[in-house]
Amino acid sequence: MKRGDCSCSLGLKPVPDAGSCRVRGWYRARRIMARRRTLLACVAVLLAACTPILFAQALKYPRPPDARKGEVLYKNGCIACHGSTGKGAPQTSTEFELPDSFPDFTRCDQTTAETNAAYKDVVVHGGPARGFAQIMPSFGGLLTSEQIDDLIAYVRSFCPDKRWPRGELNLPRALVTEKAYPEDEVVISTAMKATGAPGITTDVIHEQRFGVHNQIEIDVPINSQDQDHHWNSGLGDITFAVKRVMLSSTRTGSILSLQGGVLAPVGNSKYGFGNGTTTFEPFAAFDQLFPTNTFLQFQLGADLPHRTDIAPQSLFWRSTVGQTFMGKDRLGRMWSPMVEFLADRDLVDGAKTNWDVLPEMQVTISARQHVRFDIGVRTPMTNPAGRDKQVIFYVLWDWADGKLWEGWRK
Ligand code: HEC
Repeated sequence: MKRGDCSCSLGLKPVPDAGSCRVRGWYRARRIMARRRTLLACVAVLLAACTPILFAQALKYPRPPDARKGEVLYKNGCIACHGSTGKGAPQTSTEFELPDSFPDFTRCDQTTAETNAAYKDVVVHGGPARGFAQIMPSFGGLLTSEQIDDLIAYVRSFCPDKRWPRGELNLPRALVTEKAYPEDEVVISTAMKATGAPGITTDVIHEQRFGVHNQIEIDVPINSQDQDHHWNSGLGDITFAVKRVMLSSTRTGSILSLQGGVLAPVGNSKYGFGNGTTTFEPFAAFDQLFPTNTFLQFQLGADLPHRTDIAPQSLFWRSTVGQTFMGKDRLGRMWSPMVEFLADRDLVDGAKTNWDVLPEMQVTISARQHVRFDIGVRTPMTNPAGRDKQVIFYVLWDWADGKLWEGWRK
């Protein structure tokens, strides 16, 4: 059959030497897929390459804060309530009853997770700006922005142990990519299928720090799926994991962690909710913050089932690029648009890499910013067969910052 001289109907294209016709769209789809794959690979390489190039100071100030000047101010304005040691003035000399959340500035475990911006917000606008007690006055009208930076630098010096990773490196949590910073938080994350048979998976995740560098994590997935017009529900495989920060620097804005996890095979594998075998999940997470509040997060890991005859080993690579926007003077509510690029590949012959993109928006919803919401849409970019588009969202509660019902009103 000659090209252009065929009896193929509209939209079909002759296949040379085959004497048959194929949908023209099929060729176009293949070309587009190949182009998308190249594009995604380029973005991933670019993200990785940018990190060292853009290395810069994460906490930039018009001039470096001066803790000695801050000490003078502290002794004049803060000592009456916060005490000369930073632990709080003796109850006998203060008129007010100490709230539970009253800070002891010598407790590195309580203070290092707070960002300078969070402290500054309270000092500039007073306790109620972040849902704290009114007793903490506002100093925005009395002190300049530089003076408040000096004060915070002095307040920081009460924590003697500089190994604690600083809260500045606690970047906004993405929907899928795990971050490097160890957390005290509860996250309820739901993924709903937007195409194919309906289905919902909700992960209840508890994270808790211990020691200077470590965190434990428990993730309990709960599934509900329409399978052949029957709704089946049940637990998925439960993850137990330990994370450890290997290095962190506020000067360069970088943090690197390793995590080792075990997925216990409690999920119902008949319904496809579990692997049916214990799975080991190690990964490395590296996050980079830039002075503009732009950030990158990378995660590289593997899923290694104990019985490879029933579940394949696989590798995953996740990356996130995002930007945080804050209210006036970089204080106040935070909006963080992000895009995740997610890849995984089974370690078997002829396997193809699955690529997904996931644009999303995280926003802090409580005045204290300890409760956050994130929503996004995950779309398969390669191998779409059997992989559905998903709407994913979470509510996150940073419980070290206050009870769930505290800190909402200004
Ligand atoms: C009249 C007493 C008083 C004075 C004066 C005062 N504070 Fe406070 N401050 C408080 C109280 C009370 C809290 C705790 C509020 C709460 O937890 O609800 C607090 C909380 C804070 C916090 C913690 C916010 C957080 O995220 O946990 C910082 C930082 C702080 N004060 C800094 C200062 C600085 C700096 C000064 C001096 C410029 C100062 N305070 C002066 C009473 C005071």
